[in-house]
Amino acid sequence: MKLGIISALHEEQEGLVEAMQGPQKAIHGMRDYWTGKLGAVDAVCVLSRIGKVAAAMTATSLVERFGVTHILFTGVAGSGDSGVKVGDIVIAESLVQHDMNASPLFPRFEVPLTGQSHFLTDVQMSARLAHAAAGFLEHDLVNAIAVEERKEFGLQAPRLHRGLIASGDQFVHQKSQLGAIRDVLPGLLAVEMEGAAVAQACFELGVPFAVVRTISDNANEDAATDFMRFVKSVAARYSYYIVRRFSQA
Ligand code: ADE
Repeated sequence: MKLGIISALHEEQEGLVEAMQGPQKAIHGMRDYWTGKLGAVDAVCVLSRIGKVAAAMTATSLVERFGVTHILFTGVAGSGDSGVKVGDIVIAESLVQHDMNASPLFPRFEVPLTGQSHFLTDVQMSARLAHAAAGFLEHDLVNAIAVEERKEFGLQAPRLHRGLIASGDQFVHQKSQLGAIRDVLPGLLAVEMEGAAVAQACFELGVPFAVVRTISDNANEDAATDFMRFVKSVAARYSYYIVRRFSQA
């Protein structure tokens, strides 16, 4: 396995490059790709920046130029369900581009001429990721995040969820905006801006992939403030410990 690890923002991947053995930087397409060993795994870490095109381009470069065989996306998301709380972890079983709509030519959400609307993540990678995330919640969280921070963000007993994530080129920050997405996508757990684009690129290239997201906000009128606070303080530690456990497994 040569594992590509993508996050949109620096704050979602802080510490991972430092944890690599013999990291080497290569610049391509205005991004820094860090190649090295993470635990037992050959890895390439990169920041995609925000949005579907940026994410698809990054995933494609990882495969075509850096020869990765598997891709893992790690970052934050807005909650897509009242049962999914800030600090909870969502592992995608499938991903959909909620802003894709070529109807009436094609069914809503279907990516034209692929026959796909819900892209499925790799079963084995996702199981390994779920194991890593559960291990983080059970063993690492109390040491990784100070008790005051856990209180501040309400991280008393964060939970792990598995299911549908929706991606679009929108930061969802209004209750009505989220409602409109939820109404048409049953089973929705989280909203973000990259996962389903990585999913499409990986589907087309035949590369197994998985997505893990920590909930930073409730995709409502407070989302921007909550998101900023969460990524500034705690997001990186979730990613760091989960990816570390994943690459040691
Ligand atoms: N990533 C984190 N929070 C988000 C939100 N509310 N909408 C879209 N992407 C997000």
